[in-house]
Amino acid sequence: MTAPHDPVRAWHRLASTSVLLDGFHALKHAVRFHAEVPVAVTPDRRAALTLAEELAPDVRDTLDGLLAEVPEDVFKALVPRPHPTAVAALAVRPSRAANLETLARVPRPAPVVVLDNPRNLGNAGAVIRLAAGFGATGVVTTGTLDPWHPTVVRGGAGLHFATAVEPLAVHELPPGPVFALDPEGEDIRGLKLPDDALLAFGSERSGLSPELRACADHLVSLPMRPQVSSYNLATSVAMTLFHWSAAGGGAGSGPVPGGPDVRPA
Ligand SMILES: C[S@@+](CC[C@H](N)C(=O)[O-])C[C@H]1O[C@@H](n2cnc3c(N)ncnc32)[C@H](O)[C@@H]1O
Repeated sequence: MTAPHDPVRAWHRLASTSVLLDGFHALKHAVRFHAEVPVAVTPDRRAALTLAEELAPDVRDTLDGLLAEVPEDVFKALVPRPHPTAVAALAVRPSRAANLETLARVPRPAPVVVLDNPRNLGNAGAVIRLAAGFGATGVVTTGTLDPWHPTVVRGGAGLHFATAVEPLAVHELPPGPVFALDPEGEDIRGLKLPDDALLAFGSERSGLSPELRACADHLVSLPMRPQVSSYNLATSVAMTLFHWSAAGGGAGSGPVPGGPDVRPA
């Protein structure tokens, strides 16, 4: 990947149809997971490359070829509320057809996370980051939230490119047994979650929808003391994916199929 001749013009041409990578970490992960990044800008190339040397030397040379320096005022005009790392880029969104194929493929090596009508963009980003870290096959959302919204991509630290992220209707869910998480369900500690499971979680406001409940094969609960109503959505996903991985599922700390490992930096 190389910087375009006129990065500002390229930015204006591509911005409305691209995924905004806001911040160094989002760009770093997008590069690691093979996103196509046609333009990346910063007001301080030297600082950005020093950050790369410190935090992500594996992508330093790629960023060296990709990052274009633009004046501070131009940068702020392109990205009105820039990330403190002062790096931003545009990436090509993966094709829906390719993501749907990945989600539908069986046998499946790792579960698909289903967020049933999530409302909070930050929660959705945190869940995508978790799914990437655990090597989940993908994250499907139902309802009106756009899982590729810039705030979700920022919350997910650019890890949308490490798993298959798509919005779908409940009746379009990929194949596989549906394990729906609900405080009234069967205790997860007595269950082994299969690799081909769809792990479904309800909305922050109202829990699982009637449509999702109707297609659930199992209702599963996370241990919780009486008088506590529920856990946060993203922490519920974290516990459930950990439970799946602790029983031997998934890649653990090894490489995610089809891509490099999610590194801590
Ligand atoms: C914030 S909770 C939803 C709370 C909502 N007010 C309700 O009535 O269910 C979001 C989702 O996290 C999951 N969740 C939270 N606590 C859970 C628990 N103890 N057991 C199983 N799932 C839980 C469920 O999927 C739930 O729909």
